[in-house]
Amino acid sequence: MKKIDKIFDKSKSISLDLYLEKVLYDRNVGYYSKNNPFGIKGDYITAPNISNVFCEMIVIWVINFWENLKKPKNINFIELGPGNGDFCFTLLKTLKNFPEIFNSINIKLYEKSEKLIKIQKKRIISKKVSWIKNLHQIKKGPVIFFGNEFLDALPIKQFKKINNNVYERYATLSKDRVNLIFKKAVKKQISKLQNYELLKHNGIIEYPEYGFRELRTICKKIKKLNGGALFIDYGYKIKKNIDTLQSVKNHKFNSVNKNIGNADITALVNFDLYKKYFSYNGLIVEKIINQSRFLQKMGIIQRVETLSNKMSFKDKSSLYLRLKRLIDPSMMGENFKVIFAKNKNCKFSLAFN
Ligand SMILES: C[S@@+](CC[C@H](N)C(=O)[O-])C[C@H]1O[C@@H](n2cnc3c(N)ncnc32)[C@H](O)[C@@H]1O
Repeated sequence: MKKIDKIFDKSKSISLDLYLEKVLYDRNVGYYSKNNPFGIKGDYITAPNISNVFCEMIVIWVINFWENLKKPKNINFIELGPGNGDFCFTLLKTLKNFPEIFNSINIKLYEKSEKLIKIQKKRIISKKVSWIKNLHQIKKGPVIFFGNEFLDALPIKQFKKINNNVYERYATLSKDRVNLIFKKAVKKQISKLQNYELLKHNGIIEYPEYGFRELRTICKKIKKLNGGALFIDYGYKIKKNIDTLQSVKNHKFNSVNKNIGNADITALVNFDLYKKYFSYNGLIVEKIINQSRFLQKMGIIQRVETLSNKMSFKDKSSLYLRLKRLIDPSMMGENFKVIFAKNKNCKFSLAFN
């Protein structure tokens, strides 16, 4: 707990999103600065860790998008938050079978955690791939952004509305214990919530200020350079005011103020809100669909059938179990959603139509 003091520095309290930023990414204390969270030995498993067939479906979607963009000879593909590099590994392997796009694509990995960059650099050895620290470094297009479980990893702000009063959530440290408390929100924050019509109901309101900051550059790049952004994440579409902050350790839920710096903390993605953000910033989102539908539209079942033809019974069972995990509505199929933001004149809508 000693090191946690440093997060608070001299301030008695810090806003929830700043607190989350520190407990996740601070060089000394941050969860992502110390841990490799992925896989059975880690704290959670993501879709690219579950099966490379998931990754293949995204790659096929990217190839189709590139074709729709008229096969540009130079295209930037940016993976946002590449984790342990599993997706990028399959991306490279699959694209090698499609030399025309392989020769045209520049893959850039946008990663915040130095610890994960080291892990990615060990796994991904290719002249096609480079790492970027800032999305403004992308100067040429078209550009395709992809983030799996990227949005949920970005710190959120929380507010509480009780009748006409709005309060913002802060973290405080007292007697070695972190408490999440509410303080009166400032006008500037309240007007941001009003702009997104988030103050219609009482209850907990979540506002992804960090997420919007990342998307601001992404939207600008897409408008200027052409292309689009595909995000897959767990979250909800219907409007609701609920507290979705959650913490995970060793594949189990953990109390948000326990194991600080040693457990992941995320929030569910409010897809409707992100859709609104995109439209306020000049892009369009036609539909938000669930992961099951996206993967099935991309042909995941046929791909698994083909792969399993030559497999032993044991490998076949494992492959089908992984498929089930990805598409079954009671597993990841329904909770995980897919959103694609593009320029207004773009007609590409593979899997979303
Ligand atoms: C939940 S993990 C998902 C990893 C990977 N996409 C996957 O599906 O396995 C979130 C990833 O986003 C990265 N990340 C979070 N915030 C970031 C930011 N602001 N800029 C760049 N990377 C970030 C994390 O370090 C991590 O690699």
